[in-house]
Amino acid sequence: MSTILSQVEAAPLASLDEWEEDLLKRYPDPESIAQGKKTEEYRNYDAPVRDTVREFYRLNHTYQTYDYVVQKKADFLKFDKKEMSVWDAFQFLNQLVDDSDPDTDLDQMQHLLQTSEAIRADGHPDWMVLAGLFHDMGKVLCLFGEPQWAVVGDTFPVGCAYSDKIVYPEYFVNNPDYTNEVYSTKYGVYEPNCGLDKVQLSWGHDEYVYHMMKDYLPEPALYMLRYHSFYPQHKEHAYGHLMNAHDHEMFKWVDLFNPYDLYSKNPTPPNWKELRPYYEDLVAKYLPSTIKF
Ligand SMILES: [Fe+2]
Ligand SMILES: [Fe+2]
Repeated sequence: MSTILSQVEAAPLASLDEWEEDLLKRYPDPESIAQGKKTEEYRNYDAPVRDTVREFYRLNHTYQTYDYVVQKKADFLKFDKKEMSVWDAFQFLNQLVDDSDPDTDLDQMQHLLQTSEAIRADGHPDWMVLAGLFHDMGKVLCLFGEPQWAVVGDTFPVGCAYSDKIVYPEYFVNNPDYTNEVYSTKYGVYEPNCGLDKVQLSWGHDEYVYHMMKDYLPEPALYMLRYHSFYPQHKEHAYGHLMNAHDHEMFKWVDLFNPYDLYSKNPTPPNWKELRPYYEDLVAKYLPSTIKF
């Protein structure tokens, strides 16, 4: 019984995409609105999906404590789980199959390519294209047995008070840190404007891929990777009191990146055969022959 329960708790969402679909509902594409398209055209949202998202956040907000984040970082940032070539890593990531709708959904690699191609089409620097290609590689955490609530979802600082601008803030009452006398204060364990590098964010695919790539990409690309799910800041501006001037400067890049992640999904799969030579050169320019997980 307890095993069944823990499986349900590990995966309330039918697929990781449900989180992103919920993001689209919360933050609809301004261009589509301007063109008179409804957000629903991306996907139909029905009540059961919304309930699974709610359950997903209940778990996320209950279990993402300061100690949990420190413990997950100590484990996964050793990078002792696997070593693969970049292309094997994409194949590995693609084992994450969306079982809710296997016929119409694009696989992980296609979302990554659509993001990177949209960035390339707008003439941005090639390292930003590469950030687009890699930004969700951290989702392999699911393949290492991590529950969905520890891989995806909006991220937020731990070790200080949870903002009511975070989605479903009511679920934080279940989190033991909520009543901790230090962690429940505005600054918690941090100093005012200490800089985000000193702040622990809830554990997930952003922090993991940032550490994976941090020796290889320029700083703006690393900010995009590390904070692309930090909606409570880049959309809600709830944590300026922990950021320093440099963070604010760098968040211009995070803001630039977000629409490519959120609004580049398209039912037409990219032509990988045609694109492959460009991406092979791009990967070879910046990355080593193998990557550690
Ligand atoms: Fe992501
Ligand atoms: Fe993404």
